[in-house]
Amino acid sequence: MYKELISLQDITKFQTRSEEFFPLDWYKKMLSNDPVYFHKETDTWNVFRYDDVKQVLSNHEIFSNEGSRTTVTVGAKNKEGTASSKIMISSMDSPQHQKSRTLLSAAFTPRSLVNWEPRIRQIANKLVDDMEANAIVDIVQALAGPLPCMVMADLFGVPSKDSFLFKNWVDILFQPNIKENKDEIEYKKQSAAKEYYQYLYPIVVQKKLNPSDDIISDLLKVEIEGERFTEDEVVRTTMLLLGAGVETTSHTLSSTFYSLLYDDNTLYEQLRNDLELVPKAVEEMLRYRFQISKRHRTVKEDNNILGIELKKGDVVIAWMSAANMDENMFENPYVLDIHRNNNKKHLTFGNGPHFCLGAPLARLEMNIALTAFLQKISRIEPMESFDLENNLTTSAPGQSLIHLPLKIYK
Ligand code: HEM
Repeated sequence: MYKELISLQDITKFQTRSEEFFPLDWYKKMLSNDPVYFHKETDTWNVFRYDDVKQVLSNHEIFSNEGSRTTVTVGAKNKEGTASSKIMISSMDSPQHQKSRTLLSAAFTPRSLVNWEPRIRQIANKLVDDMEANAIVDIVQALAGPLPCMVMADLFGVPSKDSFLFKNWVDILFQPNIKENKDEIEYKKQSAAKEYYQYLYPIVVQKKLNPSDDIISDLLKVEIEGERFTEDEVVRTTMLLLGAGVETTSHTLSSTFYSLLYDDNTLYEQLRNDLELVPKAVEEMLRYRFQISKRHRTVKEDNNILGIELKKGDVVIAWMSAANMDENMFENPYVLDIHRNNNKKHLTFGNGPHFCLGAPLARLEMNIALTAFLQKISRIEPMESFDLENNLTTSAPGQSLIHLPLKIYK
C-alpha cells in the first residue's frame, strides 16, 4: 500500500545540508522551547524529549505503526520493488508484527553473529589493506560506503565478485524521492528493482535445493506456526534488509571518521592505545553523530499521555536523535564523550517492540571496521581544503557524507 509521504524538510526548514547533517542548534531550540510541537503545514505532532520519544516508540497500545501517512520511502512502485505484506514489519502492529519479526529473526540469531564475525573482519581488513600507505584516502568511498553492502552480500551468500552490483542497486533503490525529478528517480528505481529481482531469484531457488550457512538459507528454512517464506518473499526480504541496514551503517561509519577528524582530534590516538575503548566510542558516535534517527507513529485512540490532547489518527513524529541530546538523560549532551557511563541508552536504534533487529549486526560491523582501521593506520590527518557542505548528499535517511578525504599514515 502506498502511503502519503510527510516531508520532514517542511518541518525543519533547514537552509543548508550541513545544518541537517548536524542539527544540534535546532534540537536545542526545540528541546527548550517546543518539546511537544504541533506543525500545522504537515499536520503532525513532533516530540523531542527523551521520555516522550521513548513513550511514543514503545507504547504500542496507543501509538501504532500502521497508518496511511509515513516519513519513510523505500523501494520502487513496481511488483519487484515492493515488499510483501508479510514482511513490512515497520508498518504493522502485533500480533502480526510479532509473528513476522520472529520469522525475520531467523536471520539474526546469536549463533549467526558468532559465525559472521570472521567474515566481516576479512572484508574490513581487505578494504583497509587496499588503501595506499601515506596517501590521501576518501574514507567514504574506500571503507564506509562499500563495507556494509559487501557484508550484506556475503551474509546473503551471493558470490563476492557480485557485491559491486549490490552497491549499485542499493544506491539507486534507496534514493530519496526528491520532488523535482520524482518520475525519473522512480523509473530508475523500478529498473534496479527488476534487475535485482532477476539476479537474486535463481540464487534463492538454488539455495532452497542446497542450503548453506547464510541468511537466505536461514530465511528459507524457518517456520513459525505453519507460516514460511516463499522464494519470492525471501528476495523481497533481502531488499528490505538492504534498505534498513546499508545506508544507516555507512552513515554511522563515515560520520565516525568525520568526528575523529573534526570533533576531537586526540581521540584517534586514545583509541589506538586502548582498543578496548572501541565499543564505547561506537555507542557515543551512535548517540552524538547519528543525527538522522526519527520515526513516526499514528495515534490509536484519543489520549493526553504527552500532556496534550491527541486524537485518534494523529501522526506523531519521534525525533530520536534529538532525544539523544536531552539534558535530563545525558550530562553535557552537546559534548562528545566516549567515557560517559550511559551512552548505550541512546535511542538511535529505537525502543520497544520495533527496536532495530539489525542493531547487533550494525554494532559488530562498526566495531570490526574501526578496529581493523586503528590496527593498521597509525595516524590520520584532516585535509585543510575540505568543505563539508559540498561533500554531503541527500540519502534516504537524511544528509550523509559522499566524500571524506583524509591523509593516512600506515
Ligand atoms: C547504524 C545502523 C542502524 C540504525 C541506526 C538503525 C536504526 C533503526 C531504527 C531507528 C529502527 C526503527 C525502530 C522503531 O520503529 O521503533 C530500525 C528498525 C529495523 N532495522 Fe535497523 N538500523 C541500523 C542497522 C540495521 C541493520 C544492519 C539491519 C539488518 C540488516 C537492520 C534491520 C532493521 C529491521 C528489520 C527493522 C524493523 C524492526 C521492526 O519493525 O520490528 N537495521 N532500525
